[in-house]
Amino acid sequence: MGFKNIVVTGARGMLGQDLVPYLRAKGYEVFPTSSDTMSLLETADSMRDKLEPFQPEVIIHPAAYTNVDGAEREPDLAMAVNKDGTRNLALVAKELGAILIYVSTDFVFDGLKGEPYLPTDRPNPVNTYGLSKYYGELMVSELLEEYYIVRTSWLYGIHRNNFVQWVLDQAHAGSEVKTVTDWIGSPTWTGNLCVAIETLMNSGAYGTYHGADHGEISRFDQCRAMCQAAGLAEAHIRPVLSSELNMAANRPHYSVLACPGLSVPSWETGFQAYLAQYRQKSPAR
Ligand SMILES: NC(=O)c1ccc[n+]([C@@H]2O[C@H](COP(=O)([O-])OP(=O)(O)OC[C@H]3O[C@@H](n4cnc5c(N)ncnc54)[C@H](OP(=O)(O)O)[C@@H]3O)[C@@H](O)[C@H]2O)c1
Repeated sequence: MGFKNIVVTGARGMLGQDLVPYLRAKGYEVFPTSSDTMSLLETADSMRDKLEPFQPEVIIHPAAYTNVDGAEREPDLAMAVNKDGTRNLALVAKELGAILIYVSTDFVFDGLKGEPYLPTDRPNPVNTYGLSKYYGELMVSELLEEYYIVRTSWLYGIHRNNFVQWVLDQAHAGSEVKTVTDWIGSPTWTGNLCVAIETLMNSGAYGTYHGADHGEISRFDQCRAMCQAAGLAEAHIRPVLSSELNMAANRPHYSVLACPGLSVPSWETGFQAYLAQYRQKSPAR
């Protein structure tokens, strides 16, 4: 579609740190924002004044309050960032004539479907984080015509701490890893999500999509498979039920995303790509 200027919110986040260089390498002019340069708690006018000089044709919006358990303790903040912040950004996108790409989550679903969720399935979040992200979706779809909502799941990448890195680090150290057998999802490597976002951005087919790596697996089996692939002992991985972890937030037990309209690689392929990055970052491993 010949876009040039793209704003990326949450550029210091796990996805943002991959997305910015990915898009720059593809030749786009990218303007990253962080919570220091443009908070989602600012007014729409303030956001517009900051973004207008970039003349963005596209605003990609991964910035979010992402602490799932924290959102149960501070729901007002989660809503202010994920719902109201997204609403204000959608108003700015409208005023500037920019396409908005909102990154959302499998946690908008309740996990009761028992087979992969389609983008057209009805959300029914089971925790505050999921509700705040779903409200963000509604703000986008009600205010704009030129938007993409891209739900992803079980995201991991080489930047920032995340579940996959923690498991590998623990396994290297020979420390016990308790993981749950009763959450089933699709682990998704940030590198593959960057490709999906760029593909959708250039498609012109606005709407709601799922962008997740292909395949479904429990957290426990994911840990075992990752350790096998990395040549690490699996002895320290202990199966538990999610109810044993006493987490503040409920999670959907089954949140596999079907991704019609996108060609997505397997989660195993994504993990191999991640592993190469992980080994490069920590050569001793
Ligand atoms: N991680 C997952 O497993 C997962 C799964 C499904 C969907 N998602 C979605 O994918 C997206 C990216 O996730 P991620 O894991 O890359 O997130 P992340 O690493 O937690 O990064 C989120 C970013 O949001 C920014 N942010 C938070 N509050 C803000 C505020 N008030 N104003 C401006 N920026 C603010 C932070 O900016 P600063 O660093 O500058 O403070 C942070 O860098 C999110 O929308 C998330 O909902 C994630």
